[in-house]
Amino acid sequence: MDYFSISGGDPLRGSVRVRGAKNAVLPILAAGLLSEETLRIPNAPKLSDVKTMLTLLEAMGCRVQRDDDGAVEVEAKGDIIWEATWDHVRQMRASICVLGPLVGRFGRAKVSLPGGCVFGVRPIDMHIKGLAALGAKITLEEGFIEAVVPGHESGARLPGGEVFLGTPAGPTVTGTMNVLMAATLAEGRSVIHGAACEPEVGDLIKCLNSMGARISGEGSPTLIIEGVERLGGATHAVIPDRIEAGTYLMAGAITGGRVRVEGCVPGHLSAPIDAMESAGYVFEMGEDWIEIAPRRERPRPVDVTTQPYPGFPTDLQAQMMALMALADGTSVITDRIYPDRYMHLAELLRLGAHIRRQGSSAIIEGIPSLSGAPVTASDLRASAALVMAGLVAKGTTTVHRVYHIDRGYQRIDERIGELGGRISRLSE
Ligand code: EPZ
Repeated sequence: MDYFSISGGDPLRGSVRVRGAKNAVLPILAAGLLSEETLRIPNAPKLSDVKTMLTLLEAMGCRVQRDDDGAVEVEAKGDIIWEATWDHVRQMRASICVLGPLVGRFGRAKVSLPGGCVFGVRPIDMHIKGLAALGAKITLEEGFIEAVVPGHESGARLPGGEVFLGTPAGPTVTGTMNVLMAATLAEGRSVIHGAACEPEVGDLIKCLNSMGARISGEGSPTLIIEGVERLGGATHAVIPDRIEAGTYLMAGAITGGRVRVEGCVPGHLSAPIDAMESAGYVFEMGEDWIEIAPRRERPRPVDVTTQPYPGFPTDLQAQMMALMALADGTSVITDRIYPDRYMHLAELLRLGAHIRRQGSSAIIEGIPSLSGAPVTASDLRASAALVMAGLVAKGTTTVHRVYHIDRGYQRIDERIGELGGRISRLSE
């Protein structure tokens, strides 16, 4: 099993180009189930999660292809198995995104309930509520969601309907995506109220409309979908990964370096940039790049609460905590999306950080320096936070179970090495 060995203390310097967004490419690959023609994504990132989704789609009978440059294709033609087993879904929660396309195109689906993950229960009650509102009959049996469109055997389509998808923590991203994808092939009009406004939802809408769907309201919490008979193929380049971009900017910040992130959308990062500016960092930005300038002093303490987009993203919460561990004061981070998303906290304590939990918040008392130690990754974004901390900790930090990080960051060790970080990938 791979692990990283990191020697701290070197400021990162240089530029890094972000890849296609993981949380756009995964649902868009699932959207390939909606058409018998080819859906091609020329800029898919080379991530293990993409491989996992392609494996699932292939097991369902789709033709899939992944080129050396990362481009991927999916074509759902012929006999498609409208089932996603527990073995697939437990590997990656985003597999749940096949549910909506299966119901929309085939009138039935049998998808394993995803279960929880290390940072929370992560229910899918809104996915179920939304599909039921469109006219599907849903049953939960033996750990599976079974969805059936009445009369689908004789060609009946999902009727369509209107639904509010908000949850106590705000909109649901993949819940919006599932209901949206099913609605594209419904008989009539559907309206989703309280839809997620994340850029990845907008990107999915753009892709679906290029396949022939009729969706309006992109970027707003109200989506209107006029059902169509069928969808065609498309070639769709996904948006850049805003979380990857934010992670590299925070890695530049924590090491006191100068890092330019290229190929990103600065407008997707307003909240994290605002938080880092409050911490005293200075940025320059252009149409598709952001550069953070070196800061010699410790960051100023900043209180952060995660929110649905365009608020501070929960997927950058762990990385911000690592940065605030070195602030010249006390910060409070509150995760309103996933109140228990603090697996990284205990590992940061191993590096000498002074942080304590208080309900859905973490109180971070900044200290001048961290000291290297072996730490264990637990989830995708926590792993990135531990790599960041290792880049600034005195001495050597080893980060174990880096398969977590490979799920969402393409060869992060090589790219940090190109920025001057002393990091190597070893096997234990
Ligand atoms: C997406 O997960 C992302 N994953 C997550 O990124 C991200 O953290 C999350 O959105 C929030 O932004 C993908 O897009 C593949 P939600 P998702 O449904 O869709 C509650 C990463 O690191 N909720 O938007 O599963 C839920 O408990 C991953 O890349 C319900 O109550 O998240 C949470 O509090 C981690 N009922 C809130 O909504 C539901 O039916 C937001 O969850 C669904 C969600």
